[in-house]
Amino acid sequence: MKVGFIQTAPVLGDVDQTIRKIDRLLPHIRGAELLVLPELCNSGYNFESPGQARETSETVSDSVFLRYIGSVCREHQLHIVTGLNERDGDILYNSAVLVGPDGYLGKYRKLHLYMNEKDNFTPGDLDLPVFDINSCQIGMLICFDWLFPEVWRILALKGADLICHPSNLVIPGLAQRAVPIHAICNRVHVITANRVGTEGDLTFTGCSTIATPNGEVVAQASPSKEETRLVDIDISLSRDKMITSRNHVFADRRPEEYTLITKT
Ligand code: ACM
Repeated sequence: MKVGFIQTAPVLGDVDQTIRKIDRLLPHIRGAELLVLPELCNSGYNFESPGQARETSETVSDSVFLRYIGSVCREHQLHIVTGLNERDGDILYNSAVLVGPDGYLGKYRKLHLYMNEKDNFTPGDLDLPVFDINSCQIGMLICFDWLFPEVWRILALKGADLICHPSNLVIPGLAQRAVPIHAICNRVHVITANRVGTEGDLTFTGCSTIATPNGEVVAQASPSKEETRLVDIDISLSRDKMITSRNHVFADRRPEEYTLITKT
């Protein structure tokens, strides 16, 4: 399966300019079957006020940005996972949306909000869904979710082969090191699509990463350039959960010993 990411710098509050940037990068990834874009790709990240977060949000059913993504998916017959500043009624969610050649397929809403996101967004309420695209099972996490091993495990237990991870990472290097480890521990593929650039006091750390179930980093972008990567991955690797001839990543777990994890 040919998968990739677009590492770009969405323009805060200017969805049209962001779309033009993505459009210029697309010719570099012809032949992709699945692409991942950064977190909050329709709006930018570091809002000057809650008002700006709201003004730049969009509903899934009436989003300029998702209409554009849908047209790309239709034209190139591919799937895209993108971050979206999503408005639903009066509530804003930091969401990841899956779109295919026939349009919108589903979404995930970020469970673990980072720093000032807590001023603008409501934590997710949609669980951790897994979607079937052409017999590949896709899960989604968003940026700071990377810190919580529980959500990676749940997606893997639900059968995710590939976890798409739109991001706006700001702590240098931590997630980029952790992602291949989550890939190993769950024997899944992971695509982390980070952004680059600076907004106010935040500089984003790039180094978007594709990791295999063996923990191999098969693609990594630069820390600061807008760029794309496309690689061939073998989804069957995610279906083999044996880590030795006698150890199965799931069957060897001892959930009865883990009850502390679910205590609030
Ligand atoms: C982050 O969750 N955007 C750091």
